[in-house]
Amino acid sequence: MAGLNDATRGRLLFGGDYNPEQWTPEIWREDIRLMKEAGVNLATVGVFSWATLEPRPGARNFGWLDEVLDLLHDARIGVALATPTASPPPWLGARHPETLPQDENGATVWYGARNQFCASSPLYREYAQRITTDLARRYGHHPALRVWHINNEYGTHCWCDESARHFRRWLRERYQDLDALNDAWGTAFWSQRYDSWEELIPPRRAQYLNNPAQLLDFRRFTSDALLECFTAERDIVAAHSPSGIPVTTNFMPLFSGLDGWRWAAEEDVVSVDIYPDPAVGRENPAGPAHGALVADLTRSQARGPWMLMEQAASAVNFRGVNKPKGEGLMRLWSLQAVARGADSLCFFQWRASRQGSEKFHSAMLPHAGETSRAFRRIRDLGAELDRLAGVTGTGVSAEIAILHDWPAWWASNQPGRPSAELDYPAILAAWHHALWQQNLTADLAHPEADLSGYKMVVIPQLYLLSDAALDGLAAYVRGGGHIVCGFFTGVADPDDRIREGGTDARLRAVLGLATIEEWWPLAAGETVALDDGTTGSLWSEDLTPAGARAEVSYAAGELSGRPALTRHTYGEGTARYVSTLPEPAALRALLARAAEAAGAAPTLPGAPEGVEAVRRGGLLFLLNHTREPITVPLHVPHSDLLTGHPHAADVRLERYGVAVLSPTPTQGSRTCSTQGEHAR
Ligand code: GLA
Repeated sequence: MAGLNDATRGRLLFGGDYNPEQWTPEIWREDIRLMKEAGVNLATVGVFSWATLEPRPGARNFGWLDEVLDLLHDARIGVALATPTASPPPWLGARHPETLPQDENGATVWYGARNQFCASSPLYREYAQRITTDLARRYGHHPALRVWHINNEYGTHCWCDESARHFRRWLRERYQDLDALNDAWGTAFWSQRYDSWEELIPPRRAQYLNNPAQLLDFRRFTSDALLECFTAERDIVAAHSPSGIPVTTNFMPLFSGLDGWRWAAEEDVVSVDIYPDPAVGRENPAGPAHGALVADLTRSQARGPWMLMEQAASAVNFRGVNKPKGEGLMRLWSLQAVARGADSLCFFQWRASRQGSEKFHSAMLPHAGETSRAFRRIRDLGAELDRLAGVTGTGVSAEIAILHDWPAWWASNQPGRPSAELDYPAILAAWHHALWQQNLTADLAHPEADLSGYKMVVIPQLYLLSDAALDGLAAYVRGGGHIVCGFFTGVADPDDRIREGGTDARLRAVLGLATIEEWWPLAAGETVALDDGTTGSLWSEDLTPAGARAEVSYAAGELSGRPALTRHTYGEGTARYVSTLPEPAALRALLARAAEAAGAAPTLPGAPEGVEAVRRGGLLFLLNHTREPITVPLHVPHSDLLTGHPHAADVRLERYGVAVLSPTPTQGSRTCSTQGEHAR
C-alpha cells in the first residue's frame, strides 16, 4: 500500500488547490512561474472540474488537463489529482432529478451550488465512477501524479426514497431479522414496532421526537453510504495507477458527519482542511487551540504523518466577519501543523477566483498579485520549508490519550437529553485545550484502542461506550493506568439503550462509585460553587461513592456537600471522575495533577504561557501564540533549524514567532531523526 512517504519523497508538500479551468492558458504559464518562485511542489487539480471534463453526458474534454499536467510536470510540480465527483454538472440534476438529495422534509436540494448528490443514487455513482475511470486511465501513469484526491469534503445527507431503500438494505445487514431491529430500536415505546422491512424509512420530519436509535443508525448509515462512494472511486484509481500513488480524501475539521475512525482506516493517507478563526487572539486562543485539536485528531487517525490539504492564506469568506491573518499568523499556524505531524502544507487555493461564491476567499496568490505582502509571505514560507525537509515521516511524542468517538457524539447531541446545552465537540475541545495550554501533548484514540502505551487516558465525555471499550478501560486501570473521566460517560450501549443502573456497572466499579443517581444539568451561563473555591458549569451529578474519595464537593445548591470530583484506586491504577465542567483554570490544574501522578510530563516544563511546545522527530518546536516577544528558557543548548543560530540558555520568540530546535548544533538542514516517536 502506498503511503505519505511516497508522495513527499523526503520534502514537505507545499501548494494548494489549483483551478486552471477558471483561467486562460496565458495565466497558467504565469501561475507556473509564480508557483516555482514560491517553492510550490504540489498542486491539487480537478476538484470541481466535472462540468468542464464532461460538458454533456458521456462527452470528454481532457485536452486542457493534459496541457496543465504537462506544464506542472515540466516545472517539477507534483499533482494531487482529484476526482471531480463532489460537484456534478447541472445536466445530471436537470436530466435525473433523482440524483439530487432531499432533506428531512422531502424538499430537493438543487444544483447551482455544489455537493448536490445523493450518495445512494445508483445513477450518480455510475456517472461518478465512469468519469473517475476515464480520468484514472488517462492520468494514472502521468509522471506528475503524486496523490489521488477523491471527491472533496464528503458530508452530504439525503432522506429521499432511494436513500430509504439503501437504508433498509443496510439495516437488514446490520440486524438480519426484524425482531432484532425492533429490540435495538426499542420500538415498544410509542407504538413504533415495525412489521415489515418495507415500512422502514430514514428519520424524516415527524410530529414529535424521532426514535433515538433510528437517528443514530441513520448517522451510521449515512457515513457508510458515503464511504462506499469513496472506496469505489479509490479502488478505480488504484487499479489504474502504479503502486506508489497514495489515495486520500480531505476531511472537514472535527466533522460530525463521517465516522472518522472507520474512514481513516480506508485511506492510504489521511488529510484534513483546517480553518481556525484569526479573529480570536491572545485573550481567546480558540484559533490555535482548534488547529492543535484537529492536528492531533488527524495524526491519530493517520497513526503518523498526515496532510494538511487546505488552509487559508489569510481571510475566509464563510464567517459573519472575515478577518485576514495578521503578519506572522499564517506562518505560525502552518508550522504548528508541521509540529503536530503534518507532512504537507496546502492551501485553498492557489490563485484567488474573480468570480463565484468564493471570490472574497484569500488565496496564496491574492487579487493584489505577486507584489502583495500576502504573496511575499507565501514565498517566504515556501523557502523556509526546505530547512524542515528532515521532519517528513517522523512522529510526534504523546504520553496521553483522549478518547473520542463519533457514535458517542451522535448519540449525545440528540434532542430529548437531560440538557440541550450539552455540546460534545465543545466539551472535547475544552479538555484538549486544558492539556494543550500546558504542553501536555495528547493523541486521540478510539475507545476500544490499545491504551497500554499511554501514561494517562482522559475521557472528556463519552455517553455511549461498547462492552469492549468498558472492559478495555477497566483492564487499563487495573493494570496501573491513570484515567480522568468526565460526566455523562458510559451511560448507554451502542444501541443507545441506557445501561443498567444508569451508568455502566464496570465503569462505576473502576471509578469507585455506587451510583450516579441523577443528572443536574445547569442552564446556559449558570455556575455551581465548589468547595475548593472554583466553580463548575454545564452539568452536575448526584454521586454516591463506594470506595472513591471526594477531592472536591459541591458547595451550593441542591447538591451542596455531595462529591463533585472523586479519586479512586482500582487495581494498580487510579481513576478520577469529574461530574461537572470545571472552570478552565481548575480543569487545567486537575489535569496537571493527574498527569504528574501518572508521570506524563509537559513537553518543556516551565515554558511561558502562550508558548506551545511540541516534540516531533527529535526536534523541539516552540510557537509563540501571542503578539508580544517572549523569551523561553532552555534546559540544554539548542540550535535553531530555521535560522541556523545556536541558543545556549534561552531563545527569544518574536510576535507569533517560531523556533525549531535541535539539541545538538546542526550541520545542515537535514539532521533530525527520522524515527517515529509514537508512545504506542
Ligand atoms: C473547503 C472546500 C474548498 C473551499 C474552502 C473554503 O475546505 O474544500 O473547496 O470551499 O472550504 O474555505
